[in-house]
Amino acid sequence: MNFAGIELSGSIVNASGTFDAIAARRAFGDALLASFPFAAFVSKTVTLEPRQGNPPPRLWELGAGMLNSIGLPNKGLNRFLAEDLPQLAELPVPLIVNVMGSAPQDVARLVAAFGAREEVAALELNVSCPNVTTGLLMGADPGETAALLDVVRSQTAKPLIVKLTPNCASPGEVAAAAEQHGADAVSLINTVRGMAMHPRRPREPWLGGGTGGMSGPAVRAIALAQVREVRRRVRLPILGMGGVQSGRHARELLDAGADLVAVGTESFRDPLAGSRIAAELLEIDANSGMIGVTA
Ligand code: DHB
Repeated sequence: MNFAGIELSGSIVNASGTFDAIAARRAFGDALLASFPFAAFVSKTVTLEPRQGNPPPRLWELGAGMLNSIGLPNKGLNRFLAEDLPQLAELPVPLIVNVMGSAPQDVARLVAAFGAREEVAALELNVSCPNVTTGLLMGADPGETAALLDVVRSQTAKPLIVKLTPNCASPGEVAAAAEQHGADAVSLINTVRGMAMHPRRPREPWLGGGTGGMSGPAVRAIALAQVREVRRRVRLPILGMGGVQSGRHARELLDAGADLVAVGTESFRDPLAGSRIAAELLEIDANSGMIGVTA
């Protein structure tokens, strides 16, 4: 299949930041390359400068999911290019690099740097970050998203995928702005903002970062609703994600309007979940011709 100009061998990819392909290669060796669990690999977020990430605790388990506030730790553009890109280029699938900046010009520099690398098939823009000059979340406001794309679009001919946040008034409006200002695709949903209280310290949040991003089965219904809303607003290809644990869940996101599906939190329980879910989806689709058919 083809997604926004990227040729793919299947319909399941990873959600950014939920599968460490370099660590998995160390753990599984070349067996990882022989049966890679995803049809494309999406990197964790890369920023211009290195980031330490948030103070602990960084995780909280929920009844049907988890909250995390990791704070996007990463080695920064230069070390990613030197150390990680050569290893990720060995993966047997197209590489999508996720980038974030706190000003449109920072994102433009990242997009230009990765756009110039033949190892990179496409870029995903993590817009869940406040613009330092306006104070507005770049992905929560259609005007901010439009302004970002106006700066970034000219930096590369490679596909640009805008990762939409559910934490805004109208993801459909933001998607429409992305489409009108040159995005090639949208991906959604990012995590849903939430908080857990400290079990022993009154009035204190548990997470070092205060609030965190909710993911897992609990957000699947939100993902389905938002994917359908965005499908009704734009013609762009949609990478849908949120709480997918099975082929059935993937099929439902596709039926809601997604063209490609990402698996995130489920890969923390089983790093090979992507392979299982892809196989389940193929099985469902192979049998779907049977629906309503009687002997
Ligand atoms: C981080 C966590 C998330 O859940 C997310 O969607 C993006 C970034 C982080 O804290 O690193």
